[in-house]
Amino acid sequence: MATILVVDDDAQLRQSFEKILLEEGYAVRTASTGEEGIRMVEEDPPDLAIMDVRLPGVNGLEAFEAIHKQEPKLPVIIMTAYGTTETAIETTKRGAFDYVLKPFEIPSMLSLVRQALEAGRLMCSRVEMEPIPAASSAEALIGKSKAMQEVYKSIGRVATTDATVLIRGDSGTGKELVARAIYQHSLREARPFLVINCVAIPDTLLESELFGYERGAFTGASHRRVGKIEQADGGSVFLDEIGDMPFNIQAKILRLLQEKSIERLGGRNPIPVDVRILAATNRNLEKAVEEERFREDLYYRLKVVTLWLPRLQEREQDIHLLSEYFLEKFSREMEVENPRITTEAKELLSRYPWPGNVRELSNAIQKALIFSRGYPIGREEISKAMEEGEISLAVETVSTEEAIRTWVDEALRSPSMDRGLFETLTDRFARILIREALNLTGGNRSRAAKLLGLSRPTLLSKIDKYQIRTETRVKDESHRGSLK
Ligand SMILES: Nc1ncnc2c1ncn2[C@@H]1O[C@H](COP(=O)(O)OP(=O)(O)OP(=O)(O)O)[C@@H](O)[C@H]1O
Ligand SMILES: [Mg+2]
Repeated sequence: MATILVVDDDAQLRQSFEKILLEEGYAVRTASTGEEGIRMVEEDPPDLAIMDVRLPGVNGLEAFEAIHKQEPKLPVIIMTAYGTTETAIETTKRGAFDYVLKPFEIPSMLSLVRQALEAGRLMCSRVEMEPIPAASSAEALIGKSKAMQEVYKSIGRVATTDATVLIRGDSGTGKELVARAIYQHSLREARPFLVINCVAIPDTLLESELFGYERGAFTGASHRRVGKIEQADGGSVFLDEIGDMPFNIQAKILRLLQEKSIERLGGRNPIPVDVRILAATNRNLEKAVEEERFREDLYYRLKVVTLWLPRLQEREQDIHLLSEYFLEKFSREMEVENPRITTEAKELLSRYPWPGNVRELSNAIQKALIFSRGYPIGREEISKAMEEGEISLAVETVSTEEAIRTWVDEALRSPSMDRGLFETLTDRFARILIREALNLTGGNRSRAAKLLGLSRPTLLSKIDKYQIRTETRVKDESHRGSLK
């Protein structure tokens, strides 16, 4: 459970924060002064700090500096009221995760909290390359195949060089995990590591997210904003899915690599930055260069140090190891004791081609474990888990996104959906998700909550809100057809 420290002198605000965050399943600690906040971070660092800039005694900026010095990887969200925005911007320049203007909407604050916690996790959660003790919470790069041994060697070779590294390989082969392993073995290990997913951020926002902007740079730019690259000064930036980066931004990245400086949108002067760039893509960059979707100069600049990740199909002996690893990991998470898998099921696993690579295997094992309800996992559970492979548990593959888009598109065109469209759609989707999670877990709400990444109380309130009947197995609707 993630722990969040709230530092604010307003007792009422602390209380409402406490209530909201607890409901979301976070552990909360509060402090009313900067000094107290600093002390609490020193004694027992939380996973995230949310702090006001206007505090009695040592002010927010100084408190932030002290906390950031102590724990450079702790994500900090700064709260600011009208009149103190400049200070808040200054903190992001010095490495705060982000700032919000008071008063703020709770849902957007919660979304920022989730983003900040994820950023912290990506920075702090260790990725080990050696076999790790079973109960360790570290993630591990698993695989003894020759191809993976080569990957480990390359990680070792490039990690401490400060060189730009391009990580390539099909979807689900472990590119993000490798990027984090490189970072953790680098000389910048104690400094921030920021991940920018070039696909997840709309093109129109990506540029300002990366480079920031000056006040008045465009309509709506009412304040200066510091970009992620500047925030990561001294650290590393991981540009995930760089093959999908818009053409005009590619030029700016090239410039960053060549001149080690950036310019904010609407800015007049280059700002020197010291960041190490790691990048990944599953795209065919050569073809993209040919089709003039990817700049040739950037391509040559990036490819100097390239690390290729092999497909899972090409490292058959790792399938077995990875299956054991995921089985152990998920059964620990789901509190399943003594998980087992039959020989026939293992055979099936090693024969399957795994087009979605390690991610698909991980999803299949997780599902099979849920289907098996405490019995050894057999062929049947594995095939069932594979059949559903298209709709992965984590909504992260492009094909899933496309499926959802088609579904939304259909709904948008349907004449019966003309009022309250957004709510109707999101409610409908939420209902399907919850029903499906309950189906998968045989109605076990704690497990369903875990699957959905919700706290149990949140799930219960949603079950209530959507009047989902849970006493009996929820009937399968025809939603699967419509999701595809
Ligand atoms: N060698 C490995 N050992 C253990 N877990 C792995 C390994 N490779 C990948 N994984 C796990 O598989 C999942 C997918 O990995 P990751 O996100 O790094 O893939 P990716 O190459 O970035 O895929 P995409 O191109 O779709 O973004 C993650 O949950 C990751 O932890
Ligand atoms: Mg990835």
